[in-house]
Amino acid sequence: MERCISVFIALFVSNSFLLEVSSQWHSRKSFAFKKFKKFSWDNCGKPDDPIYVKTVHVYPNPIPSPGYVLASASANISIILHSALPANLTLEREVAGAWVKIPCVDDLGSCYYPDACERLAQLFRALTGLCIDCPFKAGDYVWPSSGIYIPNFLLSDRLTNFRLQIILGNTEKELGCLKVNFSVASGLHDQHNEM
Ligand SMILES: *[C@@H]1O[C@H](CO)[C@@H](O)[C@H](O)[C@H]1NC(C)=O
Ligand SMILES: *[C@@H]1O[C@H](CO)[C@@H](O)[C@H](O)[C@H]1NC(C)=O
Ligand SMILES: *[C@@H]1O[C@H](CO)[C@@H](O)[C@H](O)[C@H]1NC(C)=O
Repeated sequence: MERCISVFIALFVSNSFLLEVSSQWHSRKSFAFKKFKKFSWDNCGKPDDPIYVKTVHVYPNPIPSPGYVLASASANISIILHSALPANLTLEREVAGAWVKIPCVDDLGSCYYPDACERLAQLFRALTGLCIDCPFKAGDYVWPSSGIYIPNFLLSDRLTNFRLQIILGNTEKELGCLKVNFSVASGLHDQHNEM
């Protein structure tokens, strides 16, 4: 139960990566190393939003694909969240210095989920085997440091910068907002193939 909110974030992020495989953006190869953007995050909601993320840690950075990361997070929920938990994701990748929005394809990418609660509870149960049900209760949620396998996303560039915004709730009632910057290093295990 406590791991839920941070697992949301991790799952959204990793779901979004998978889009890369299916969409095959462009075949342009970048031979120059782009500037690596440090992993960073921040709450972007109002001070009285009921969901407040307290910590997010991901190691190492850039995130290797394929590879393993250690991730942990904590958040604080001040009200009981009703079972309808809308989530609005905006995922962008940096292409030639500009941010390009990754569209929602097959429920992955910059997607709007009218009710993310049950979807995420299901994913959480599948991943951990723990029982979690909607609505999520008020309290402090801690996701202890866990190893997560990051598959090979077949990104066309060796280093890709991403930024992700997750808005929970809707325009009438915002529940929380999180922004994350992260970079993905791809193909570190077979660099000779890039050239
Ligand atoms: C993301 O990185 C940019 C600079 O690259 C910075 O201005 C911004 O504050 C960062 N956002 C977060 C949420 O850390
Ligand atoms: C959320 O965190 C704040 C500050 O750390 C604390 O005062 C508040 O009691 C917490 N709320 C819940 C529901 O745990
Ligand atoms: C989702 O967020 C984006 C960017 O903030 C916004 O343009 C869009 O209108 C939002 N969609 C919904 C359904 O709230």
